Amino acid sequence: MCRVSGYIGKGDALPIIMEGLRRQGYGGYDSSGVLIGNGADLTCVRAVGKLENLEKKLENQTLKGNWGIGQIRWATHGGVTEANAHPHRDCKGNIFLVHNGIVENYQELKEKLIKKGHKFTSETDTEVLCHLIESFFQGNLEEATRKALRLVKGTYGLLIISKQDPEKIVAARLSSPLLIGTNDQDYIIASDPIAVAPYARKIIQLDDYEIATITLKDLFILKEKIPQVLELDLGVAEKGGYPHFMLKEIMEGPEAIENAIKGRLMIDDGSVKLGGLDNVQNKLREIKRLILVACGTSNFAARIGKYMLEEYAGIPTEVDIGSEFRYRKPILDKNTAVIFISQSGETADTLACLKEVKNKGILTLGITNVVGSSQTRETDAGIYTRSGPEIGVASTKSFLGQFTVLAMLMVYLGRQREMSLVTGKRIVSELSKIPDLAKKILSLTQKIEKLTEKYKDFQNFWFIGRKYNFPVALEGALKLKEISYLHAEGMAGGELKHGPLALINENFPTIAICPSDSVYEKMMSNIEEIKARGGPIIAVATEGNEKIKEIVDDVIYIPKTLEVLTPILSVIPFHLFAYYMGVLRGYDVDKPRNLAKSVTVE
Ligand code: G6P
Repeated sequence: MCRVSGYIGKGDALPIIMEGLRRQGYGGYDSSGVLIGNGADLTCVRAVGKLENLEKKLENQTLKGNWGIGQIRWATHGGVTEANAHPHRDCKGNIFLVHNGIVENYQELKEKLIKKGHKFTSETDTEVLCHLIESFFQGNLEEATRKALRLVKGTYGLLIISKQDPEKIVAARLSSPLLIGTNDQDYIIASDPIAVAPYARKIIQLDDYEIATITLKDLFILKEKIPQVLELDLGVAEKGGYPHFMLKEIMEGPEAIENAIKGRLMIDDGSVKLGGLDNVQNKLREIKRLILVACGTSNFAARIGKYMLEEYAGIPTEVDIGSEFRYRKPILDKNTAVIFISQSGETADTLACLKEVKNKGILTLGITNVVGSSQTRETDAGIYTRSGPEIGVASTKSFLGQFTVLAMLMVYLGRQREMSLVTGKRIVSELSKIPDLAKKILSLTQKIEKLTEKYKDFQNFWFIGRKYNFPVALEGALKLKEISYLHAEGMAGGELKHGPLALINENFPTIAICPSDSVYEKMMSNIEEIKARGGPIIAVATEGNEKIKEIVDDVIYIPKTLEVLTPILSVIPFHLFAYYMGVLRGYDVDKPRNLAKSVTVE
């Protein structure tokens, strides 16, 4: 997804802006550009493809200056060309800007601007912003920006500069992340905290409709803000010896679970302590229905959450995806709470639902990884997953963090209701052992790598599971699709006979999740159905189940745990399977084609 980076201060702007772009590049992009200011002298360089292409172009120039802006673009409007790359400019070469977001009414604005004589040089929606600001510009950039943005519909994280009002960056935000980091000498502005981390210890988050004007002399924000201390480990953007972020993050899974439970489990009380829910504790006691809203992998965590919350907390729970919930008419009342689950806390579809639910006065909770993200600021209360920064586009350790938080929420809400002390104790004590059990699965890495060798020539895969492991089947299939570009479908085991079985033959392997739990026998019937039709089978089974080896082609063993907690273990082999398959097939697993880490547009 697009990301912006800007700098104004006492240092050399170019390396800082480039480093900001590099650090944010994990989300995927297809072109980039920078503009450096030296007094009122502006130089703009843009390139298609990787940042290295831009760096090559920059080698031939001496770009010195202490203010500037940059962007990496992920094409939405207009193809991947240099003309469509940011920064964009107005007719006179006075106003330049970089943008993360979408201008929804750009066609209408563009037509009006063309009628007034403005000349466009790109196919982007962004360029209308330059011309619109130009049409209001009378010497003061922030004033022109304020007037122009009143007419804009859509989303933006914008950095704007002007040759005629130099040594100044105007930053504006609406539904796209944007923050300013400062050490009192330098101001770094970016979409993601990861870009400001090396230079600043204080961050100022911009809220929707806020405009910040930053000059070489001072920092002025229209709405007063209290600077927050930035909590980010500076080593995060490094691969720590691993070939890819994805593998590093899969390996960090046990630590992510450990961080999520740290200080929160009260084994003797059979309960959990979730400080982020303190202010809504009494309201939650009254809640009679829950709706979980999330996208992508977070949505699969939510689906497991539904099964958990219904079975153990006794609360009727629905799950929806952000892009559906926002356009349907959900029935909401004061006894309902809506829980939003998002790693980034910036997913546009999820945030749009949050705004809608808030408008109706319904209690909102967030399960989020990124501290200070839009979701955490907008929800009434919430729980951090504490998974640490996730750079690989495909979510891995975050899923484990979300699952762990949902399991704790189940105990929290369950203990407010009918859950007994004994059940609470059993779950909480087993949760405390999960990080070690997860580590055991990671020792199977080589075995899973070998399995991908064996199965690499198949083009299609089924993933099947039942009950708690049905959403894991969906996650296994999604990971294989996005990382190795193979066709894979996830399905509830019981649905096989209602159609998909027709596809089974010796060329269509199935990966079946069949731990020794309450639906084991049912899963075994599914496996027999597949075997009878010649389909190859990989099973994920509980350690000690030797019998299954006689039926299936390959087995991946996971340690025994409570049925309700199995998904956190059964999903790990699938993340590894997708990873090794993607690597084997020669793909960039950290940045799969056409995808973005945080989808901040609809
Ligand atoms: C993108 C990512 C997925 C992620 C989804 C939801 O599609 O590629 O890995 O699951 O967004 O992101 P969120 O930050 O809301 O969890």
